[in-house]
Amino acid sequence: MWVPDVVTERLVLRRYVADDRPAFQALMADEEVTRHLGGVMTTIAAAQLFDRFLGQDRSLIVWAVTDSGTGEFVGHAGLKVRGLQDPPELIYQLAREFWGQGLATEIGKAVLAFAFSEVGFQRVEATVDTDHPASHRVLGKIGMTFDRVDHDDSGEFLIYIADRGEWRAPA
Ligand SMILES: CC(C)(COP(=O)(O)OP(=O)(O)OC[C@H]1O[C@@H](n2cnc3c(N)ncnc32)[C@H](O)[C@@H]1OP(=O)(O)O)[C@@H](O)C(=O)NCCC(=O)NCCS
Repeated sequence: MWVPDVVTERLVLRRYVADDRPAFQALMADEEVTRHLGGVMTTIAAAQLFDRFLGQDRSLIVWAVTDSGTGEFVGHAGLKVRGLQDPPELIYQLAREFWGQGLATEIGKAVLAFAFSEVGFQRVEATVDTDHPASHRVLGKIGMTFDRVDHDDSGEFLIYIADRGEWRAPA
């Protein structure tokens, strides 16, 4: 799906281009990055997913996150669209060297603002493992609140939500 660029203080979230493929594959091959995302992706699986980013897949609103100063690939962000009735799911994953600088918080706020103001979604959800304190903290900092516990074959996880009518971008 075509989506416009989103510009934040330090980042540009832009459309993927073919040259981003190696950086995306490296991101998804990193054990630490994928620890809470189902584990490392094979090169083939990452390539197939990347091909969907370049295509017109309507279930994906995705951006390559880049450093606005250097243009360097910082990570991946997006909204997983799950149908007309279900809220989209906020997604963010950064290359390890960019952790701990408040960048996920910056991305999360910008993507929520995009989801509500530009697309008009009524609610956005985020799914997070129970033992992932950094992501819990990010979700709190971007104004999402804990809603419920859910589970699948791999175990229990938590759902955070933000509603369009109530969400205000935290300072
Ligand atoms: C989780 C992730 C997105 C965080 O990105 P980040 O840019 O480092 O996040 P931020 O700097 O915006 O905020 C992280 C917050 O978590 C806190 N934090 C980090 N590790 C923590 C820990 N082990 N326990 C408690 N808090 C922790 C930080 O101190 C910071 O909070 P603060 O600003 O109050 O100090 C990043 O580590 C990542 O991409 N991980 C791999 C992919 C992933 O897990 N994505 C999320 C799936 S739900």
